[in-house]
Amino acid sequence: MSLRRALEPPQPYLLNPAENIGAPLGRWNLYIGGAGCVVDGYVNLDLFAAPGVDVRADAHHLPFGDGVFQRVECDAVLEHVVDPERVMREIERVLAPGGYAHVVTPFCHPFHEYPRDFRRFTIDGLELMAGGMEVVAKGWRTGPAATLLVVVLEFVKMLLPWKWWRTVSHGVLGWVLFPLRYLDLWLWRSAYAGRIGNHCYLWLRKRG
Ligand SMILES: C[S@@+](CC[C@H](N)C(=O)[O-])C[C@H]1O[C@@H](n2cnc3c(N)ncnc32)[C@H](O)[C@@H]1O
Repeated sequence: MSLRRALEPPQPYLLNPAENIGAPLGRWNLYIGGAGCVVDGYVNLDLFAAPGVDVRADAHHLPFGDGVFQRVECDAVLEHVVDPERVMREIERVLAPGGYAHVVTPFCHPFHEYPRDFRRFTIDGLELMAGGMEVVAKGWRTGPAATLLVVVLEFVKMLLPWKWWRTVSHGVLGWVLFPLRYLDLWLWRSAYAGRIGNHCYLWLRKRG
């Protein structure tokens, strides 16, 4: 393991444990936008070829027949596509009847281009794109403490003139601040958590 990787601070967010609804994987499952991720059990599709990517394609035009997949995962991708409504219709089309889609999008989160960054979503906005799919569960995947930490990290880096200063400050601040991420375990109980929530999610089920 490289020294840089060993010193990399923990992620500034916790995943909401309430989010797991235990939707089973089927024989075929699709992970959209998984470049750089290990996604065992899924066909990994991304706009760009990279290690781990099985299919290079645009999510606006999924190169699969109707009703093929039991599970579709679309985590932090819709903010990067030109037409998220169209991508949601493609997800609905390739899902098997009774299959589940898990869609995650940022709400309060810094600008990040993969390869572009077009928009942010609320839970209500995501629900508007459910189409014919049933909303089984919805909520916050990463909460207000995650928002606070990523904004502080970005704010400090913005003030620093040299890249190596930014790299060092990311490491130091990341280690100093990460314990604050556990505040989300408590903040998720608040009705106000969504005002500055970090990423929201929907679990959708295709009827049939
Ligand atoms: C922010 S990354 C998310 C990676 C991973 N899902 C995660 O949560 O760590 C967004 C990914 O979506 C991919 N992507 C962007 N636009 C896409 C499109 N139109 N079709 C397929 N993949 C796309 C990018 O190449 C990138 O790998």
